[in-house]
Amino acid sequence: MRIIMTNQKGGVGKTTLVFHLASLFAADGKRVLAVDLDPQANLTSCYLRGELPPESNIALLYRSESPLPLIVGDHLDLVGSDPSLGSHEDHGSTDRIRAIKEWLDGLPGYDIVIFDTPPAMGLFTRSALLASDFALIPADVSWFAYKGLADLVSSIESLRARHQAEVRPLGIILNGMQERQGFAQETWAALDDRYGHLLFKNTIPESVRVREAASQGIPVTELDRRGKAAAAYRALYAEIRERLEAMP
Ligand SMILES: Nc1ncnc2c1ncn2[C@@H]1O[C@H](COP(=O)(O)OP(=O)(O)OP(=O)(O)O)[C@@H](O)[C@H]1O
Ligand SMILES: [Mg+2]
Repeated sequence: MRIIMTNQKGGVGKTTLVFHLASLFAADGKRVLAVDLDPQANLTSCYLRGELPPESNIALLYRSESPLPLIVGDHLDLVGSDPSLGSHEDHGSTDRIRAIKEWLDGLPGYDIVIFDTPPAMGLFTRSALLASDFALIPADVSWFAYKGLADLVSSIESLRARHQAEVRPLGIILNGMQERQGFAQETWAALDDRYGHLLFKNTIPESVRVREAASQGIPVTELDRRGKAAAAYRALYAEIRERLEAMP
């Protein structure tokens, strides 16, 4: 099963969520491949202090070579990126848009492939959408104010229509939430009214521990097992699993 983490808005927690969910899937016994499609390479640096081995760079795909997954944990492999990936970004070519799907179709053995994507609807995000079964959409509360979801859904729909993509939205994850009492109940009610079917009930709180975890390359579920943020990720993970199992 392939899952894309996507939102054109920057800084909503895509990378941090991929890092944590990949680790939770792996701890749950799934064989996981995390793929970094962002030339900023933030996900790659969560796993690696030093340089990414050149043979494990996703950019190889755009030179007609296959990247080799790198073992970064138990049941957990990475295909990473570096800033050189940026030079392969273009918006036109249809054969390039299929490169990720074709590569993964020929790479069996993973239960879960999870993509981190850049904050743009360019070649990499579109290619990953085309290769994915489900989309997870992290968001902060302000994102709903400017019709971000409508834009994203229409991009997904047009991709489905033009390229026979099968990706479906699995849900919206509210990330970096302040305590609920600081968040107007009417705003929550309005969100729930419009997007209730997509919103995950479990949200991720704003937490310094999350920031520390990502920068140290240790998931908060290991760094601070008993903390609030760890509990939130575990609860969200359980809800994602449940929703996946309920999908027709
Ligand atoms: N729940 C959280 N609490 C506190 N800080 C968080 C939380 N989630 C993410 N962050 C921090 O917010 C910043 C942005 O998060 P992240 O890099 O995951 O977002 P992104 O959507 O991947 O950004 P980009 O669009 O640039 O790729 C990071 O510094 C990260 O450590
Ligand atoms: Mg990111």
